[in-house]
Amino acid sequence: MKKKNERIRPLLLCFLAAACTTGSAQVSKEALSLKEALQPAFLIGAAVTTRQMNLQDTAAVRLLRTHFNAIVPENCMKIQSLQPHEGVFHFSDADRLVAFGQQEGMHVTGHTLIWHSQVPDWFFTDKDGNEVSKEILIERMRTHITTVVSRYKGRIKGWDVVNEAVEDDGSLRRNKFLQIIGEEYIRLAFEFAHAADPDAELYYNDYSLALPRKRDGVVALAKQLLESGIPLSAIGMQGHLGMQFPSIREFEKSILAFSALGVKVMITELDLSILPEPSQRTGADIARKEAYRKEINPYTNGVPEAVYKEWQDRYLDFFTLFLKQADKISRVTLWGLSDGTSWRNNFPVRGRTDYPLLFDRQYRAKPLVYKLIERAQSDLPR
Ligand code: G3I
Repeated sequence: MKKKNERIRPLLLCFLAAACTTGSAQVSKEALSLKEALQPAFLIGAAVTTRQMNLQDTAAVRLLRTHFNAIVPENCMKIQSLQPHEGVFHFSDADRLVAFGQQEGMHVTGHTLIWHSQVPDWFFTDKDGNEVSKEILIERMRTHITTVVSRYKGRIKGWDVVNEAVEDDGSLRRNKFLQIIGEEYIRLAFEFAHAADPDAELYYNDYSLALPRKRDGVVALAKQLLESGIPLSAIGMQGHLGMQFPSIREFEKSILAFSALGVKVMITELDLSILPEPSQRTGADIARKEAYRKEINPYTNGVPEAVYKEWQDRYLDFFTLFLKQADKISRVTLWGLSDGTSWRNNFPVRGRTDYPLLFDRQYRAKPLVYKLIERAQSDLPR
């Protein structure tokens, strides 16, 4: 085991390098890693790609080991990746990720068992292309969930069992599962997951949960699940943030509302786009696509200092909220490691240059990383 000051020195050097490139951070005398600084509060995680888990991306792996104690696959555990054809499972990428997490002593989240997106067509149709019956779809859900959850029993700490089942207006999303099975598909998914690994934590995960009507819809859904005996462990608030939306006040109200149900809150997919919103629409609905215009892609050659500062302040404000509500929050996970591979470069407009994460395109820590460490050191009791 390395002595503490041996571990700190390389981090301090990284920090100095980052501070020199932007000139906007103060040197902390005690530059710890994020996971060390936040350890009294909550786990700090990152979504990882298959390339990173193949250990091809060594810079990313180094960052993961240094700063994070939780991981979640960005894509390789979705139905399309795990079971592209009926009964044909592809586990190799997911196996590598779980093995890496175990080896590093990290909290591993499975993402995601039931989601309307990234489901291959066969899941909902028979061999003639007709929509399957309710009974068949329930059996397909049972087989998928049981096979996947059993494989990682005792190794995956918790599952995003159902993802994005509620619309922005608080009603249930009119997806194929709802259309064919009815609203009980949500409870069934949780029951199948719980039966396959009774010790695994079970999460409901969604975006835009600061919207009052969506918050109320998720509270109602969680209440129903809890009343029907589902051991729901946490609600995942995705946290795909913009510079204007959501307000910190509304976000806090949702943390309080979910926590009042007796479940934990997790910030599961945090990133903050620095780019202008292309329209009044907000949120992370994957189906949302908007047209490219040059004026909504203003930072292709870098971010002006004042804009970076505004972005950094907003990130710090959110983390200050998370630290304030740390007794209710068990994990904060960034949706990716470095700006270069973030999905936000392509959402909701393809081909923009965004800067939503804590590490830049060269995997250098942004000054924000050290601001976060300082903030944690000043706000948390030690
Ligand atoms: O792997 C293929 C590759 O073989 C192919 O050449 C390439 C061509 O486009 O596509 C690759 O797949 C892409 C995949 O990401 C891996 O990069 C898919 O097209 C692309 O749709 C997929 O996007 C992911 C998206 O979910 C849909 O699954 C994003 O990376 C991922 O960040 C995003 O994550 C979701 C969460 O799961 C749920 N919450 C919202 C969040 C953001 O949409």
